[in-house]
Amino acid sequence: MRKNIPPSSLARDSRFHRRDTEQRMSDRRNTDVEGHVDPEAEDVAERARRRMHGIFVGEIQALEGAGRTAFDFGTDEVPYELKLDMARQCWDEARHCEISVKLAEHMGGELGEYAEFTTLFEAACHEDPVFRLAGVNRALEGLAIDVFTQMREFGEIMGDPILAYCEDFMLADEVTHVRMGSRWLREVTKNDEQRRKDALAFQRVVDGLFNFQGQRGEEDDSPIRLAREFRRLAGFTDDEVDEIAKMSEESRSATSERNSARHAFDASFAGQSSSA
Ligand SMILES: [Fe+2]
Ligand SMILES: [Fe+2]
Repeated sequence: MRKNIPPSSLARDSRFHRRDTEQRMSDRRNTDVEGHVDPEAEDVAERARRRMHGIFVGEIQALEGAGRTAFDFGTDEVPYELKLDMARQCWDEARHCEISVKLAEHMGGELGEYAEFTTLFEAACHEDPVFRLAGVNRALEGLAIDVFTQMREFGEIMGDPILAYCEDFMLADEVTHVRMGSRWLREVTKNDEQRRKDALAFQRVVDGLFNFQGQRGEEDDSPIRLAREFRRLAGFTDDEVDEIAKMSEESRSATSERNSARHAFDASFAGQSSSA
């Protein structure tokens, strides 16, 4: 079987509409809308369905990514126990796929209703297994911890015990997956400080992309709230969580400066055309 397959080789039927990360980030609608599942919003049902679809395709790619990492590297490159952990993760992610697709239906959604972004699998294609663990298990599954914690709460607020229960169940597994990432990153690089630093830098790049222009934070009304307690259980230090919060804050102020400049420009343009 071929090793290190590219994201374009993922097996999908005609219901799926694939977009890569470059397309995702160049389309402002994606960074704006994916954020907030606000119980008060008029279109809350649509937002929740969109979020659930995103979770579902993330689960498929998490299954595929963990499967590739178990297969792509020999025991001369990674410890056998790391491969066993990846195999266990495949088992969990397969269950999450089933749960998510049923939840999506439960919420009135349909498979293929939204685009599938291949970011997670792209991070799982790195040639260095340690970078995969940093980018996927720590950055993206860390994001899953934030998202599932918030969706569990959303289920409780909306009086939907099925949603709340399922999110709680998946959250427990994601904490385990992030902890696997934290453990193996530490162990595999224990004699290679530079490799660890580089992998953590890759993790920061992925985390930076998924702050959604600063929408991730610790305030109650943050579109995506950092789940500090669960991240701690998963091997994140408080400094690491602080760093994600800080990056997000910087990106939020940069976005708001950009928006003010744009509004000022639009206002002056409107003034010119009305006086013309
Ligand atoms: Fe999962
Ligand atoms: Fe996971």
